[in-house]
Amino acid sequence: MKFGHFDDHKREYVITNPKTPYPWINYLGCEDFFSIITNTAGGYSFYKDARLRRITRYRYNNVPVDDGGKYFYINENGKVWSPGWKPVKTELDRYECRHGMGYTQITGEVDQLEAEVLYMVPLGYHGEVQRVKLTNHSDRKRSFSLFSFVEWCLWDALEDNTNFQRNFSTGQVEIVDSTIYHKTEYRERRDHYAFYTVNEKVSGLDTDREAFVGLYNGFDAPDAVMECQSRNSHAHGWSPVASHHLQIELLPGEQKELVFVLGYVEVPVADKFVQNQVINKAPAEEMIAKFQSSADVDRAFKELTAFWDDLLSVYQLEHPEQELNRAVNVWNQYQCMVTFNFSRSASLFESGIGRGMGFRDSNQDLIGFVHQVPERARERIIDIASTQFEDGSAYHQYQPLTKKGNDAVGSNFNDDPLWLILGCDEYIKETGDWTILDEMVPFDNDESNKASLFEHLKRSFYHVVHNLGPHKLPLIGRADWNDCLNLNCFSETPGEAFQTTENKEGGVAESVFIAGMFVLYGDAFVKLCEKLDLKEEALEAAGHIHAMKKVVDEHGWDGSWFIRAYDHFGEKVGSDEREEGKIFIESQGMCIMAGIGLEDGRARTALDSVKERLDCEYGIVLNNPAFTKYHVQYGEISTYPEGYKENAGIFCHNNPWIMIAEVLDGNGDAAWEYFRKICPPYLEEISDLHKTEPYVYSQMIAGKDAFKPGEAKNSWLTGTASWNFYVISQYILGIRTDFDGLLINPVIPKAWDGYTVTRKFRGATYRIEVSNPDHVSAGVKDLVLNGEKLDDMLVPICADGSVNQVKVVLG
Ligand code: GLC
Ligand code: GLC
Repeated sequence: MKFGHFDDHKREYVITNPKTPYPWINYLGCEDFFSIITNTAGGYSFYKDARLRRITRYRYNNVPVDDGGKYFYINENGKVWSPGWKPVKTELDRYECRHGMGYTQITGEVDQLEAEVLYMVPLGYHGEVQRVKLTNHSDRKRSFSLFSFVEWCLWDALEDNTNFQRNFSTGQVEIVDSTIYHKTEYRERRDHYAFYTVNEKVSGLDTDREAFVGLYNGFDAPDAVMECQSRNSHAHGWSPVASHHLQIELLPGEQKELVFVLGYVEVPVADKFVQNQVINKAPAEEMIAKFQSSADVDRAFKELTAFWDDLLSVYQLEHPEQELNRAVNVWNQYQCMVTFNFSRSASLFESGIGRGMGFRDSNQDLIGFVHQVPERARERIIDIASTQFEDGSAYHQYQPLTKKGNDAVGSNFNDDPLWLILGCDEYIKETGDWTILDEMVPFDNDESNKASLFEHLKRSFYHVVHNLGPHKLPLIGRADWNDCLNLNCFSETPGEAFQTTENKEGGVAESVFIAGMFVLYGDAFVKLCEKLDLKEEALEAAGHIHAMKKVVDEHGWDGSWFIRAYDHFGEKVGSDEREEGKIFIESQGMCIMAGIGLEDGRARTALDSVKERLDCEYGIVLNNPAFTKYHVQYGEISTYPEGYKENAGIFCHNNPWIMIAEVLDGNGDAAWEYFRKICPPYLEEISDLHKTEPYVYSQMIAGKDAFKPGEAKNSWLTGTASWNFYVISQYILGIRTDFDGLLINPVIPKAWDGYTVTRKFRGATYRIEVSNPDHVSAGVKDLVLNGEKLDDMLVPICADGSVNQVKVVLG
């Protein structure tokens, strides 16, 4: 069952039934100021950091699930409704929510009165603009009241949720005309405030929640709205809010447009006040002046659309299947921007207070984003590397506001360092910018202790070499990519965090996954060295990789698949010898991506085992058989009920590794089948089962052992976005970035006739037409650039600004 449809022309998902199986969200903003918005106008805003600089309040795990947001209420002669259906939930004659690229437009209509609200964060603007269009479609004059509503958060979202003994006494506001200023804690150490305004005189205001809502009401029936009378309240402590009341009259056919702005301002400390207790409003006034009219909103909207036109034009596919075009050209790339911006910090499943930016996550997010805004990817790489320690190890996470490593989450996730090589390698391949390797980058943010980024990569590489276990496989540390495979943890205490709790002294558990990773990204390091003409460096590193391959051959192969790890006692994890968790997906993907077993048939055998034991209708599960009891020596993975999360859920993030493995084995049909199974637009028809947004990937789909296979959770913030874009754009469609050009090597289903990709790369445009007359999966028979046949599969870099025709014939 569907709850809407794609509008491909406008790049929107149009929700036509407000009762989606879960709130379906969008993200506004792509630089500093962000909002999350649901299809019924729930959600919240923050500046840079969802924990430390939360602007409006949101209650996670609320009842009902999505209450609190940027609400508008209409009261016409006692009939009260909201354009987004919620919070009032009056039945609407028409409802539509259009989630687009950086904006959301929600429209409701009751008795021929239409209210359309456009929510957007304009480029370069530290605020959310809301344009309300009210249209009288009837043939009688209408008079009604419009109320706006937002609830302020007292900045630190964690404190805001917990420290009520203080919070209830600190809230402060100022009011000037139609503008409500939220200035809690500004009198002391904060140099920032927020404001909410409308471009018209109001007939009333509220800034105190209890006065506006009433102590015993919900957002669905605030006193002020129900009685059509603002209280003109002034908040002193408790919960400051902002609500405007406008009285409106519309003649038949008449339309009225209002512009609301929710803004955030920072003021230099010396200029904070104009007099005691009176805040300096000049920067806010400047912001407000930019959005005085609907025409200002139109202009900003056009700029935003042009911005996305430009971003998305870097990789555009023309394919007979519209679902695939949607994924590749619009939604997958859009999600990559979102994961780049937020890592795993703020969604409807990530509360914005738990996690900052992940070291491994952000490096992987880069690979689906680097073609969009390479300069930002560059900055991100430097930020991440700046949190690395001298010995190559890394903080697992850092806070986006401070850019400093997060002590509370610690380090010793021994895969972390290697992901930095992946991030850098993909950046250089996209941009050709080798200077990044010369950047001087601090260790642990200590400006007095710096080394080149190249040196950081080297430390990443050697961190593995210096941390080998009894089999000479890499020590796993707290965990590798699988945060829940905690082999040194042995936790017996309820509530202890598996990722941060003290590990067993001298933990010797080893990871075959990291071994595969070392071969793969270690090899990328070697190639960088070779390119830089560091022959000895390259040779030495290659020696370590060679040794690691031998260790994997000796200790990493179980007979029909790759072993996953060795536990603390030296027992195999992910082996036929075990009763539960005989086979895991990650080591199959990573080892084969590294090329291990491709030549001797072990890769094929492992992939057949994946098909037989891990594949199911909705994707590839992480392990099998699922754990049915707690294995203290495995940790969190065995805490999840069967079929969920890391315990045999379809953890979508690692499915693309198997797709790449199939591609490397030349099997386009299998790669495509796996791709299609989890690709959101192909799941639109089962939205009721799938539950999460049909336009983005979710972290996890319940696996075959689950109570409800096919049900997804944790949408949006997942490495699945970047890996799937990477796999489809570079491996299946086969347009790969390389140091000296574009490598063309499609591996596709035999049934495909062909497709065209337009790729902008290093200043030139390539229109690449792939045809498959013999219906093969792989093999480039002919590659022609601007009429000239090329000898190998590399399309060289063409002149800046040039438009080039590339013809690819498979066969
Ligand atoms: C989550 C984490 C990611 C980890 C994965 C598997 O998505 O953000 O870092 O690799 O889970 O445990
Ligand atoms: C939990 C989740 C895992 C995530 C981790 C982050 O263990 O299951 O997916 O990576 O938390 O700390």
